[in-house]
Amino acid sequence: TPLDKIRNFSIIAHIDHGKSTLADRLIQRTGGLTEREMSAQVLDNMDIEKERGITIKAQTVRLDWKGHVLNLMDTPGHVDFAYEVSRSLAACEGALLVVDAAQGVEAQTLANVYQSIEHDHEIVPVINKIDLPAAEPEKVRKEIEDVIGLDASNAILASAKSGIGIDEILDAIVERIPAPKGDASQPLKAMLVDSWYDPYLGVVILVRVMAGVLRKGAEIAFMAGGTKHLVDRVGCFRPKIEQLTELGPGEIGFITAQIKEVAQTAVGDTITDAKKPAAEALPGFKLVQPVVFCGLFPVDAADFDKLRESISRLRLNDASFTFEMESSAALGFGFRCGFLGLLHLEIIQERLTREYDLDLITTAPSVVYKIQLAHDRGEIELHNPADMPDPSKIASIEEPWIEAVIYCPDEYLGSILKLCQDRRGVQKNLTYVGGRAQVTYDLPLNEVVFDFYDRLKSISRGYASFDYHQIGYREGDLVKMSIMVNAEPVDALSMIVHRGTAESRGRGMCERLKDLIPRHLFKIPIQAAIGGKVIARETIAAMRKDVTAKCYGGDASRKKKLLEKQKEGKKRMREYGSVSIPQEAFIAALRMG
Ligand code: GTP
Repeated sequence: TPLDKIRNFSIIAHIDHGKSTLADRLIQRTGGLTEREMSAQVLDNMDIEKERGITIKAQTVRLDWKGHVLNLMDTPGHVDFAYEVSRSLAACEGALLVVDAAQGVEAQTLANVYQSIEHDHEIVPVINKIDLPAAEPEKVRKEIEDVIGLDASNAILASAKSGIGIDEILDAIVERIPAPKGDASQPLKAMLVDSWYDPYLGVVILVRVMAGVLRKGAEIAFMAGGTKHLVDRVGCFRPKIEQLTELGPGEIGFITAQIKEVAQTAVGDTITDAKKPAAEALPGFKLVQPVVFCGLFPVDAADFDKLRESISRLRLNDASFTFEMESSAALGFGFRCGFLGLLHLEIIQERLTREYDLDLITTAPSVVYKIQLAHDRGEIELHNPADMPDPSKIASIEEPWIEAVIYCPDEYLGSILKLCQDRRGVQKNLTYVGGRAQVTYDLPLNEVVFDFYDRLKSISRGYASFDYHQIGYREGDLVKMSIMVNAEPVDALSMIVHRGTAESRGRGMCERLKDLIPRHLFKIPIQAAIGGKVIARETIAAMRKDVTAKCYGGDASRKKKLLEKQKEGKKRMREYGSVSIPQEAFIAALRMG
């Protein structure tokens, strides 16, 4: 395809503002699928994709419109996947900014728009859902101008649901978004935008050709990965797979090259010709590293092998999480896993629970600390509080910080500021736009990974949005807090905390455990300690000797029932020293109050 006939764009939208519906509509209008095939949302629906032979992750589609080829590039919508987003954006020249006509601009939208602007994108504002009675397109138009600073005078008024404004959007893509640049005679340079595992095709790689031509049958080299492969398929998605013989400069499509594992393909890598390689790689390559770690343990120790197998399977398709075996006195054998963020952690945890039917215990999420060892012994990275060196061997500890942007209606601002303050936040900026506040805080990641997002949602009744990116490491007064039950430390509950918040955290934890651990025949002290020093303490009183005594011995069946109930309760217990701790206690205790 000649360069001037190609347009590459993505869609920026806040969740629920109608990205998928609009994408489906564009596919339908340009003839990618029939009305019948459109009966359900295509881009969102895995089953439909499978049935129709459309590859699961083929959210990137090629559309034909009035003699032009339009490539719609899908981008993941969450902060955890910021690097993937940046690569998808680097593959495009423009974006549709979809804003709900009733909801207006949200924080997520803002963050993505700024990223898109940084990539020099031409942005076409689309005000969607104008069919809604609550739609206020003119107010939203003004908001786009005031809040984002984009000219919205030519924003397109649309309803993805009723099909209003669809042709205008397609025309605007052709007219307003610039054509890509690239020289076909140069050595091949293609960016690896995304990759996924397909059971039939093996690893499928989504590429954007920047220079040169990517041909079927060619031998290619990954410049960062350092491996070579033979290209056995070249094609695009419409959204059904269409095979091609080559992809020229400016084009977006996929290749397969008999690659077995997604881990061999790094997002952002440069693909070049193995025989005639490019002199230098494309800018912006970065290896993504997990930032949040936690232990995953099977509730039933017999499930360990199943867990190992399931984790390995998931990893086939997601090379960005890591795992290694871990053993815990309290929880037995499990895995220490690393994730790109909390949402990523939740996705993996949820898939293991749902798709693989595993009952799991997750230990407290922890960030990666950098510890400078005393006596110039160098630096170590700490992924697990259990591995914390003795304080006498530590010169200093650094923790990762983030910059968070929170966007909320004015009425919730007070409690949100308090939340940030309680989490050791440093306020950087506060502005008001049309009754809404946008507040920027620097926060330690450690204080955010626990339940910050949940708290934020609950105090703002769902109205606050939140976005963050890492801004580097800062030294902190950090200590390891151990939890002891009956004088024995429970490793799964130990965590690294700031000295200033240790006492309240410790007290909270002890109080929760007191309610969660059932009474025993003896008194059980529960303590939180830093080093050898106890900072909080609760005691579970002893139980009366015979539970069945209160049945007066008379009613045998009742007595039997009670004993059975006790037995049942036992099954889900962890014997900890002489104390049994119910599974739920770990999970509940790790949830911050
Ligand atoms: P995620 O997939 O969750 O990120 O959301 P999304 O941005 O892709 O939004 P989606 O297309 O799933 O739309 C969210 C909801 O808004 C759905 O219930 C749609 O039916 C509805 N919706 C989308 N476009 C319109 C529209 O133009 N008008 C009306 N009334 N509803 C719409």
